[in-house]
Amino acid sequence: MKISGQIALITGASSGIGAALVEDLRRLGARLVLTGRSTQRLAAIAQPDDFVMPGDLCDAGFRENLIRRALGHFGRIDILINNAGYGLYAPPTRSPLDDVRNMFELNLFAPLHLIQLTAPLMKERGSGIIVNISSVAGRLTLPWLSMYSASKFALCALSEGLRSELAPAGVQVTLVCPGYVRTNFPENVRGEAMPATLSNPTRFAIAAPECARAIVRGIEKGARTVVTPGSARLLLLAARLFPWQTERFLARFHRQLEQQA
Ligand SMILES: NC(=O)c1ccc[n+]([C@@H]2O[C@H](COP(=O)([O-])OP(=O)(O)OC[C@H]3O[C@@H](n4cnc5c(N)ncnc54)[C@H](OP(=O)(O)O)[C@@H]3O)[C@@H](O)[C@H]2O)c1
Repeated sequence: MKISGQIALITGASSGIGAALVEDLRRLGARLVLTGRSTQRLAAIAQPDDFVMPGDLCDAGFRENLIRRALGHFGRIDILINNAGYGLYAPPTRSPLDDVRNMFELNLFAPLHLIQLTAPLMKERGSGIIVNISSVAGRLTLPWLSMYSASKFALCALSEGLRSELAPAGVQVTLVCPGYVRTNFPENVRGEAMPATLSNPTRFAIAAPECARAIVRGIEKGARTVVTPGSARLLLLAARLFPWQTERFLARFHRQLEQQA
């Protein structure tokens, strides 16, 4: 899809990968709807032609308002990017249920609701793109991030089901699984105090603009899935080829984290 002239709605536009996507899509000529909770950070990123609506995506009423007002402003949404999300650090047996529910509200139910509000209109027009930002953790369950992984696995399943449903109507679904990206993600993670090993950025980490470039290339090419960087693709391949070894490695990693906790 050619980005120029398209109307793109980006959730979590106030920071990290979302803010980098804003830069790239703007440069390529998209018209933008930006949302996130921080009015201040959105104001710093927005340009006069953008439609900016701050608010909490865990609130279903806000989600309905957002889509209604964005449609009122631009008349349509061509690209929906479900990017807002956060993590929860704790083993499953110690993850408070309410914390898990809240995380699922943002990581899974908010994307699903926004899709339900926009996809029927895309279907009617016979075009549109839905981009769901999952994670490598949505393909491989990571220790201490199991419940976050569960929310991102669910987003992967949603994306794949959606693709079968929407492809005949000409609507593209692109699933994105980034590896470690340097953003505010670790600061926004909820749960237990983070073990040192998890708080140190790995040498495989990439910057948000690099991740955004890969996502935009995926949108332009009509990619089904974008896994970035290459080291993340290798990790997933290794996990598929050597499941027992991967499980042993992850169990060792879990024990290491428990010792640091
Ligand atoms: N960084 C990584 O290593 C990595 C790897 C794989 C996948 N991801 C995924 O990439 C996406 C973006 O994360 P990031 O790394 O860019 O993290 P980030 O810098 O923390 O950005 C998260 C964004 O989500 C928004 N957000 C959080 N809670 C919200 C709420 N209740 N309502 C509305 N917006 C909310 C934040 O905006 P406000 O604070 O203004 O609300 C912010 O713009 C997430 O889905 C994350 O799971 C990240």
